[in-house]
Amino acid sequence: MIDFRSDTVTKPTPAMKEAMMNAPVGDDVFVEDPTINELEQFSADMFGMEAGIFCPSGTMTNQIAIKVHTNPGDEVICSRESHIYCYEGGGIAVNSGISARLIEGKSGMITAADVANNFNNPEDIHFPLTRLVSLENTSNRGGGLCYDLEEIKKIKAVCAEKGLKFHLDGARLFNALIATGQDAKDYGHLFDSISLCLSKGLGAPVGSVLIGNKDFIKKSRRVRKVLGGGMRQAGIIAAGGLYAMKNNIERLQIDHDNAHLLANAALENPKIESVGKVETNILMLNINSDSKEMVADFATKGILCYPMDPRRVRIVTHLDNSQEQIAQAAEILRKI
Ligand SMILES: Cc1ncc(COP(=O)(O)O)c(C=O)c1O
Repeated sequence: MIDFRSDTVTKPTPAMKEAMMNAPVGDDVFVEDPTINELEQFSADMFGMEAGIFCPSGTMTNQIAIKVHTNPGDEVICSRESHIYCYEGGGIAVNSGISARLIEGKSGMITAADVANNFNNPEDIHFPLTRLVSLENTSNRGGGLCYDLEEIKKIKAVCAEKGLKFHLDGARLFNALIATGQDAKDYGHLFDSISLCLSKGLGAPVGSVLIGNKDFIKKSRRVRKVLGGGMRQAGIIAAGGLYAMKNNIERLQIDHDNAHLLANAALENPKIESVGKVETNILMLNINSDSKEMVADFATKGILCYPMDPRRVRIVTHLDNSQEQIAQAAEILRKI
């Protein structure tokens, strides 16, 4: 089976496992795990931010950031397609007691005008206090498309003017950096917090890092503990993430090239109506039949993929796809 369901399905390589086996460890709740401390600082430094905190998942890093930035009753502005709203089990309400102001947006992305137009007048007691803006780059439901940095700068200007905190769900931010050539430090300067996933395109088995200033990370440690995310000798898993950060970022270009190759093959298939724009490692097939049936049909030919919506199938390329698999998958996509 060629598995394109997600870039989360990758398995650690022998070299990554060796790094994990040899990792020096300590009790991370006491901030004494040298491997975790290194990973947190390495991540923060890469983005020019002060500090970081290692967590079990991207859901946890997003949820911690939302909780630290807001008070119950506040509102976060985000895309209707965003992971924090669609796929985190209602965590915005459960963990932080806040509401989401959902923006229709385009390809999972919002604009500075959207933020300005959806900011509530803080003097009017009818409205929740708008406290936070959250972006997702790349956008998962948006088909892996990347934000224009100039638009992010404009959104930041609105946040600064209105006193809003600015969070980035950067589960696939490294894909965006590789695809656009944007500078990680620009992101560090613009956002109050960034969530980075190690277990997606980078290929680590577990973990995400949340980065921000020292005060924000200090508060995040308390929230992580409350959520049950305080781990002990977790340097064993952090070592996989550190290895991934040091070795697997540049190679994301291969995944992007593979996604383009598969998109071109899919375009030759009359059963596929259109293929969404490909910028990174995600490609969306738009069809006019049932997506679950098409996914089942693909499975009989040896390809696993994901029915994103009733008429949309998602294919995600990743580091466990060999070039033989890609060539074979392209052939299947052309003909199915
Ligand atoms: C955009 C985005 N953000 C956050 C997450 C959450 O990551 P995790 O599965 O580690 O909780 C995902 C997971 O797929 C994602 O795609």
